[in-house]
Amino acid sequence: MNATLELKPSTAGKPATSAPPAPAISAWPDTGTLYRRFDALVRQPMRPIRKENMAKVMRYFDERCQRSKKVAEAAKTVIPGGVQHNLAFNHPFPLAMERAEGAHLTDVDGNRYIDFLQAGGPTLLGSNDPLVRLKVNEVLEQCGPVTGLLHEYEVKLAELVCQDMPGVDMLRLLGSGTEAVMGAVRLARAYTGNKWIIKIGGAYHGWSDQLVYGMRLPGTGRMEAVGIPQGSTAHTQECNPNDLEALRRKLRLNRLRGGTAAVLLEPLGPESGTRPVHHDYNRQVRALCDEFGALLIFDEVVTGFRVGPGGAQAYFNVMPDITVLGKCLAGGYPMAGAIGGRRDVMMMLVGGIGTTSKRAFVGGTLSANPLSCVAGYHALLEAKRTDAAGKAGRAGDRLRRGLESIIDRLGLPYVVYNMGSIVHLQTSGVLLLDTSNLYKLWRVKDEAKARKHMMEEMGAAYSAHGLITLAGSRIYTSLADTDDVVDDALNRFEDVFKLV
Ligand SMILES: Cc1ncc(COP(=O)(O)O)c(C=O)c1O
Repeated sequence: MNATLELKPSTAGKPATSAPPAPAISAWPDTGTLYRRFDALVRQPMRPIRKENMAKVMRYFDERCQRSKKVAEAAKTVIPGGVQHNLAFNHPFPLAMERAEGAHLTDVDGNRYIDFLQAGGPTLLGSNDPLVRLKVNEVLEQCGPVTGLLHEYEVKLAELVCQDMPGVDMLRLLGSGTEAVMGAVRLARAYTGNKWIIKIGGAYHGWSDQLVYGMRLPGTGRMEAVGIPQGSTAHTQECNPNDLEALRRKLRLNRLRGGTAAVLLEPLGPESGTRPVHHDYNRQVRALCDEFGALLIFDEVVTGFRVGPGGAQAYFNVMPDITVLGKCLAGGYPMAGAIGGRRDVMMMLVGGIGTTSKRAFVGGTLSANPLSCVAGYHALLEAKRTDAAGKAGRAGDRLRRGLESIIDRLGLPYVVYNMGSIVHLQTSGVLLLDTSNLYKLWRVKDEAKARKHMMEEMGAAYSAHGLITLAGSRIYTSLADTDDVVDDALNRFEDVFKLV
């Protein structure tokens, strides 16, 4: 099929929606000011926790986390590095968790934490929501977790997503965000007949061969592509966030050598907005895609449902051709991944044994299992009923305002900003170093190590003060984060910042 024939997004068949609640992102950050502040943060010497205070932080782990330490030591003998979760903190060792409820986690030593990791994003309702658990248990009683055949909840979940996400007419469920991105890329190539995929530097789109490219830091290309043949990334390119001219140049050049199948991006900016895009960026990328006959893929693995039931596409009012979903889609239960999109594009993902039409092959034994589907359906329904995205967003606003005022009061150079329930707290600035060309990358190599270590120390200090964050620099809030929880957290953050 020729991509230039019909690339206009369709919202045909969508029911008229009733007045939506206030957006989960109450105000888009002023990106110009933010980038100036990032620059100032990485230009000045680091402001880590003082050595003598860090020794006190470490005492917490020695004295209060004995059982976790034992579990972590046992883990090291049977699990490479002792951790399997890329988000897990392993400094000084990973904490082993026993209970999760709402806004809190409790470790195996009985220490309680405010949970701002939220499993890396999926638990918008807070952890272990009782209603969702009840519904999951009902299905488990009836048919166990999987049958390999159609289940009503598959359809209910797909209907709900198609109803709420303006760019999604049809949905195909898969096992994870990584799988869904892989499938989306294949689908874009199959549909357009084009080769190239342009991603935005610094973004994480899972760990498939072709996308371990320009990860975390823009401009780093194959830096992390260990064990991945050159050929696998031969048609992957990256562009710096916000650089529309560079994107246009790539699209123009690609036109002469196989065409661009898709521009793939996280709509808030790489790494969930760690490098935020300006407010009009997505619309401008959409226009470029239309001009050059490329599909636009939104990776909404993080933003899907967290930025509201319609995701970032509804927030920005920009329709992608293909949407990748994950995380919240299964409410924190296993197997969260899906490709959604325009009907004509999606029809190239037809499944089943008897199919003879040309299709982009995707699959998975456990994909679309009843357990993930019932969990996702009820989690999303409950999130809508309670306006979880909006309330989590207000909690994010309150936390960001509080952190801003503490940081100002203590005269620290740290930068805090939020997009609703996604709060970024940059203290070491490691992810903000300028790596936009090879020379700059080489220049900041050692500094990146030192700044990464500082980020680990900050993360450890937060944990020792009862706060679990994502890698010491990101915070996900949830519906469970009441004002009391946020205010409690602010006192704890202040205690940590006073150690600097
Ligand atoms: C934007 C984005 N895309 C894709 C993925 C990969 O999803 P999964 O971990 O489910 O494979 C992630 C995971 O964090 C993500 O943040």
